[in-house]
Amino acid sequence: MYTTLLTELADHIFTITINRPDKLNALNKTVIEELGKAIDEVYTNPGIKSALITGSGPKAFVAGADIGEFTSLDAKGGKALAQKGQDLVFNKIEQSPKPIVAAVNGFALGGGCELAMACHFRLCSDNARFGQPEVNLGLVPGYGGTQRLTQLVGKGKAMELMMTGNMVDAHTALQLGLVNYLTAPGDLLAKTKELLQLINTKAPLAIQQVIALTNIAARGDENGLQREINAFGDLFDTADAKEGAAAFLEKRKAAFKGQ
Ligand code: COA
Repeated sequence: MYTTLLTELADHIFTITINRPDKLNALNKTVIEELGKAIDEVYTNPGIKSALITGSGPKAFVAGADIGEFTSLDAKGGKALAQKGQDLVFNKIEQSPKPIVAAVNGFALGGGCELAMACHFRLCSDNARFGQPEVNLGLVPGYGGTQRLTQLVGKGKAMELMMTGNMVDAHTALQLGLVNYLTAPGDLLAKTKELLQLINTKAPLAIQQVIALTNIAARGDENGLQREINAFGDLFDTADAKEGAAAFLEKRKAAFKGQ
């Protein structure tokens, strides 16, 4: 069904593997379009509770947008490329009602770092490298990097990374808060799935609100506290909130239905 992605659904976890290892999984037009379709699957397939995105091969998560496609671009084409990518993939990942997590297994540069940052959180293997090297090409990030890197690591470090184009290693990424966990390469997918399996046991509508409210906080939305009050209240009308309280009081495990 996909030519540049491998997908697998097991235990309600949808694994999306970007599969162009000979090009370090660079994001060309086809990858962006197929990633858009795969994210749509996450939204619409009731069998999917959460998803992870990783890269094929031992070397790269994603080494950026495909630079080969840059040579024919002018201002209009560049804006269209960034807009399409943000609309089809990056913003859709961030706003997904179901958790989407990045398992960064090597280079995450340019659009690759941006793809990881659009995910709800990130884990990486100890051979991972992160960077926004667009200034080396006379460019800036176009898939949300200026905004999300600043949100994740703060203004000063974001400025430094985007001005120098320098890469940071996995340990530095952990220190900076760019990733939540660092693993040996062979343990990365298992650790990512372990976290998703735990999240999958929680009430789906509550998880959906955690994602929406945290995104609002990250954007610095002034109405964040009011939105939280509304979501907190609305969730009391769900069957899952009744089940959660009843299960606690009856000293049993809650069985959530996403209702
Ligand atoms: N776009 C297109 N092709 C890319 C690519 C990208 N972003 N990143 C890597 N590739 C290709 C290389 O051209 C090479 O293809 P080839 O074998 O047909 O020549 C292949 O992937 C392997 O990459 P190579 O550069 O030989 O590997 P390396 O180990 O020497 O270097 C990197 C790895 C990641 C340091 C290097 O590939 C690199 O700097 N890539 C570009 C990163 C970048 O600037 N990304 C931001 C784009 S906005």
